[in-house]
Amino acid sequence: MLTSCTTEKPAPAAIAATPGAASAHVPAELYDGLGARHATISPKFLYDALGSKLFEAICELPEYYPTRTEAGIFARYGREIARACGLGTTMIDLGAGNCAKAAKLFPLLRPAQYVAVDISTEFVSDALARLRLRFPHIDMQALGLDFSSGLELPDNVRAERRLFFYPGSSLGNFTPPEARVFLTRLRKGCGPDGGLLIGIDLAKDKAILDAAYDDALGVTAAFNLNVLRHVNQLLGSDFDIRQWRHVGFYNEAAGRVEMHLEAKQAQRVCWPGGGRDFAEGERIHTENSYKYRQADAIVLLEQSGFEATRVWTDPRCPFAVIHAQAIA
Ligand code: TRP
Repeated sequence: MLTSCTTEKPAPAAIAATPGAASAHVPAELYDGLGARHATISPKFLYDALGSKLFEAICELPEYYPTRTEAGIFARYGREIARACGLGTTMIDLGAGNCAKAAKLFPLLRPAQYVAVDISTEFVSDALARLRLRFPHIDMQALGLDFSSGLELPDNVRAERRLFFYPGSSLGNFTPPEARVFLTRLRKGCGPDGGLLIGIDLAKDKAILDAAYDDALGVTAAFNLNVLRHVNQLLGSDFDIRQWRHVGFYNEAAGRVEMHLEAKQAQRVCWPGGGRDFAEGERIHTENSYKYRQADAIVLLEQSGFEATRVWTDPRCPFAVIHAQAIA
């Protein structure tokens, strides 16, 4: 443990933390991540109320193609998508956020029930309250849940004809083996008559990916840096956001975009019961975004108990929307 966290100059070595009694509610994975030799912060901590708003702004950026490309696919192939998914499903939206993507599909898909799941409980509840007014005939509920670690659905979620809706490029935020575990859990959760409507971002030109994850306006930088503000709240730490910069780039060899926060200079960060020294240029890894080849995505689904029935893509910008049916 650090002997002093306020007056001493940073020592060269990083020192792992131990949680103090006052911070017992803090997720253990935050301590584990910050204490690791290569520090990490789980991407789920990006999405506090402000983070969710910043992500909404990212989706408006000219450089961030996934949201727009996917919206184009939904608009163009909506009828086919509805035919593949079927009407009257129990639509379970994972990472629903502002629920805008599902809302656009409601008139075509006409789900019997809509369950909006998001780690940002307040954000998704507000969105759902507005949505209820627009679609009073759909049974709706908001569920504040970290679905990356488990998917316990309450009893009032219908068991029949479950359609998991997982748009965007979030599957890429898991490593491929983690994605398999996650999809297998969805397969179990949706039952034998269930399905999945998923967005999968595909590998593309490095320049496009680099810009998408490091935009000119700096919104992505603000989004990534905001995680330090959120961690300060959760942990009582004293990250000085001005001392960090956003780094986002496509690592072609690894097939993924990597997001990091890089220390502008050597510094010590403290929290109750611990702290850590960071050297100049040292990075905290905040997220990966794997970009698949279409054929690999289909294999991944098969390995998880799903059969891809339809794939819709945009020829100008590689992105796939896939409907997959549970294999009995
Ligand atoms: N799931 C999104 C993606 O991989 C999230 C995202 C977009 C993101 N830009 C980011 C996460 C920048 C961290 C930093 O596309």
